[in-house]
Amino acid sequence: MNCFENAVEKIREFYKIKTDEYFEKNIFEVLKQIIEFDAGYINLTNSERPEYLFNTDTSDIKSFESCLRENLYFKNTVYGEIVITGKHYSSNEKKIFKTCACVISDIIKDFEISQITKMQIEAIQQGYLKIHKNTKKIKNSQEAKTKFISHISHELRTPINSILGFSEILGSGFTGKLNSKQKEYIDDIKISSLKLLEMVNEILDISKIEAKSMKLNLQKFSTSVCIQEVVNLINPLLIRKNLNFKKNIGNFEITADYQKFQQILLNLLSNAVKYTPVNGQIILECTKKDDKTIITVEDNGVGIEKKDLKKIFKKYEQADAKANSTGLGLAIAKEFVKMHNGTITAESEIGKGSKFTVVIPLN
Ligand SMILES: Nc1ncnc2c1ncn2[C@@H]1O[C@H](COP(=O)(O)OP(=O)(O)OP(=O)(O)O)[C@@H](O)[C@H]1O
Ligand SMILES: [Mg+2]
Repeated sequence: MNCFENAVEKIREFYKIKTDEYFEKNIFEVLKQIIEFDAGYINLTNSERPEYLFNTDTSDIKSFESCLRENLYFKNTVYGEIVITGKHYSSNEKKIFKTCACVISDIIKDFEISQITKMQIEAIQQGYLKIHKNTKKIKNSQEAKTKFISHISHELRTPINSILGFSEILGSGFTGKLNSKQKEYIDDIKISSLKLLEMVNEILDISKIEAKSMKLNLQKFSTSVCIQEVVNLINPLLIRKNLNFKKNIGNFEITADYQKFQQILLNLLSNAVKYTPVNGQIILECTKKDDKTIITVEDNGVGIEKKDLKKIFKKYEQADAKANSTGLGLAIAKEFVKMHNGTITAESEIGKGSKFTVVIPLN
């Protein structure tokens, strides 16, 4: 039984019109038209089942003055069409044709739906394989990139340390007395190479973070000593910019990674110094609340626009690109805070200042 004959059966059942010879006759008329005069077409979008196809070459449809055309669909998915051509059809025949299309839709649908699903699954599987292959490629190239950066950073650090060491020796006057100009130039060399070392360290840190090879080295230490060391480091910069520095550092014990704890603070303080004009103010606080350490660094500097507040913790993002900085400092600080199961947040008002808050569990 082909699908047209099948359709007639179904229509009979549907309308329970076994006795209605007129209707049946008309359906047969339409279908006969299709079958006997080769005037009908069924085209399916995806089907491989030839028994459902009928005159798939529709190129000559346009040459007919009149044709009836209905989509074959399931829910909103059109998966083919049925067309009959060749004569002017009466409105009754048109109605019958519509019914035929519905019933044929229904007959073909089950197979077509499963066919569509099968094709979709195949496409998804192929897509998955492609993604898997690409992910592997990306992973490999990322690993190669991380290895390269890590290697190049080590290679860069050695000569920078050598520049720093030798400028220290020269500056100390150990190799001969320096005049004031020479002293000034040596200081310039020191400051620039320190900045360069900081940037290389940041690149090394971020590549370790990306490679997920950054580890915590937890130890118990007292906050005041650890924080004072960072303040000492930053002190020359505070003096140079004549910044009013206030601190309230509670002395209590914390279990954390000493070096990373200092690096978080160093970044926040060096940012506060960097983005606060001469004669500005910076307030550093470290307090204990419940089982948490709360560190805040507040300045009355240039501030950050609201739209930029979200992106400053992202890698390589700066509110606006600046020379001499990588824009990695806060991303690394955030990662280090996260490794300690803590949080870091920023509040700011443009032109008024910024406040960064770090909350880290005591243990
Ligand atoms: N205290 C602050 N006041 C104003 N803007 C700030 C402050 N801290 C950070 N920002 C903004 O956030 C951006 C990101 O800070 P981040 O420390 O990550 O990078 P950076 O200081 O530019 O470079 P790096 O720290 O890598 O040398 C900065 O470029 C700056 O625009
Ligand atoms: Mg910074």
